[in-house]
Amino acid sequence: MPTSRKPAAPKRDVKARPAKPVTLRRASAAAPSLDSCACIADLEAIAKRKLPRPHYDYYAGGAEDELTLDANREAFRKIFIRPRALVDVSRIDTGTTVLGTSISMPVMVAPTAYQKLAHPDGELATARAAGQSRTLMVASTIATHDLESIAKAAGGPLWFQLYVPPERNIARDLARRAEAAGYRALCLTVDTPQLGRRERDVRNGFTLPPDVRMMNFEGAHRDMPRRAPPGTSAMAAYSMALLDPSLTWDAIAWLKSETKLPIIVKGIIAGDDARLAAESGAAAVIVSNHGGRQLDACEPTLAALPHVVEAAAGRIEVYLDGGVRRGTDVIKAIALGARAVLVGRPVIWGLAAGGQAGAHRALEMLREELILAMKLSGCPRIQGLGPEFIAGP
Ligand SMILES: Cc1cc2nc3c(=O)[nH]c(=O)nc-3n(C[C@H](O)[C@H](O)[C@H](O)COP(=O)(O)O)c2cc1C
Repeated sequence: MPTSRKPAAPKRDVKARPAKPVTLRRASAAAPSLDSCACIADLEAIAKRKLPRPHYDYYAGGAEDELTLDANREAFRKIFIRPRALVDVSRIDTGTTVLGTSISMPVMVAPTAYQKLAHPDGELATARAAGQSRTLMVASTIATHDLESIAKAAGGPLWFQLYVPPERNIARDLARRAEAAGYRALCLTVDTPQLGRRERDVRNGFTLPPDVRMMNFEGAHRDMPRRAPPGTSAMAAYSMALLDPSLTWDAIAWLKSETKLPIIVKGIIAGDDARLAAESGAAAVIVSNHGGRQLDACEPTLAALPHVVEAAAGRIEVYLDGGVRRGTDVIKAIALGARAVLVGRPVIWGLAAGGQAGAHRALEMLREELILAMKLSGCPRIQGLGPEFIAGP
């Protein structure tokens, strides 16, 4: 039901504050409704009101000084669209394909961990929402529902995001399970030899409640420790056993020998790495800095995109994530050579604000904005976007 209450204006500064005693009660029961939200920032404002502070900070935060978190957004602000006039835009086609799979718009759902913290239905609700929006979801290795349940819930195509632990058999088993469950590709995340230093989580003593478990695993990998060594976070301690810092490009050939699924390399910034990905047999790369959560001061993704596109030279598909919050952002990324974008936090904000309906709303907001922006840019088909639609710097 629409209400007359307006969502709280999104605050510009949502950064960490010094630690205060934390209560894990939901911050406010009477948040504004989904219907009164005009944009992703409004969904974030609801999520911020509803979630306990450490959980909101876990989702919102980045590494160290959050330079890259901010720079991802700033890169979109810095470039502008050069629209064309008097083009027939009475019909707009946002449809595209990614590795041969049709999606209704070039916006996919990025893998994000621990979605049960945002809503009890977690990844199941997100998978249903992505299907409702006829787009693709990437499910995380550290999901809080197992990959088979996510596949059963999903109404649309899925990829599986893979972290490779030092015990390679764990990754091999996950890859095989994903293939058996109908996932269409593996996204190997390569920007995470060790977890970035997320200082909000250190200050908040962030850990997971006992009912939020990593359901793709059995045994030791299923639960996060309840406490962290001083000056670090429980998640950093948990992830030590999950991430292999000795991983190199050979991992692609190894993974290809274990699965028939195409391999997408997630976390590429340098053009040279896009070239190595293509030479190693990957099918695609995702230009990503993990939403500013890994290397702080990493180049923002939109700035890195043209170099990656040039190095890929049409041999592999290139996608981008990091800071996409508007339909106009989607246009900018596609015009600069991405085939599609992925969104992480926007879907989390929707999920926290209203479960499946909220996640679906987030995706539909981006679709509505994209359609409007395509009309106003004089570009009726996504495939018609190119660098001529971009003005400086
Ligand atoms: C809360 C959160 C959890 C994430 N978990 C994962 C993960 O498990 N695996 C992964 O490859 N990337 C993970 N990422 C990174 C996202 O896939 C994606 O790169 C990033 O969120 C894109 O930036 P955006 O949030 O600005 O859209 C996570 C990001 C966030 C915000």
